Amino acid sequence: MKRVRTAVLISGRGSNMKALLDAAKDPAYPAEIVLVAANVPGAGGLDIAREAGIETATIDHRGKGSREAFERELHARLLTANTELVCLAGFMRLLTPFFVDAWAGKMLNIHPSLLPAFPGLDTHQRAIDAGAKFGGCTVHFVTSEMDVGPIVAQAAVPILPGDDAHALAARVLVAEHKIYPAALAAVASGKPAPSGAVPTVYNPPL
Ligand code: GRF
Repeated sequence: MKRVRTAVLISGRGSNMKALLDAAKDPAYPAEIVLVAANVPGAGGLDIAREAGIETATIDHRGKGSREAFERELHARLLTANTELVCLAGFMRLLTPFFVDAWAGKMLNIHPSLLPAFPGLDTHQRAIDAGAKFGGCTVHFVTSEMDVGPIVAQAAVPILPGDDAHALAARVLVAEHKIYPAALAAVASGKPAPSGAVPTVYNPPL
């Protein structure tokens, strides 16, 4: 079986990246992680990736002159690794049309809310403040508008009385670690429609 060569982009601790690496340890998993790249030197996830024997790259976004100059360097690195799919996993950079277009239909993101509710930052506090009864997480294809692309997988998580953002984030993170590997597997094995079409919504059992 040919496994889809996948790069994971991170900015921080990399717990979702780790979930993807763990899933991809199984030779039957349809994607292999060929590169973990961070825009933040010393991002915690880099150590986890190195320990797992995965190639890593650090491309500091600072001092590059422009967002696009940073992205062109990152893009070149992805091509060097023969990357076919990109997974954003806590990658805290807004992307320009250059990068989004270059990876259109081939780039996933995980967002800690039930999109289209609560795009952007501070999702858990906003869900609590709104009186929402469920929070959750969404894996979606990345398009030029932030947190808006076609949805591949979602998990809903109850918001319990007394929850603060920290407690809700921890509960949602458990679900994130389940749906991201399931969503990547679905995309890598071609279950959703190919790029350009809205993919099948895929809800893995939690
Ligand atoms: C996750 O909550 C993810 O949904 C969001 O950023 C966080 C990253 O956490 N995009 P981690 O680095 O994967 O632990």
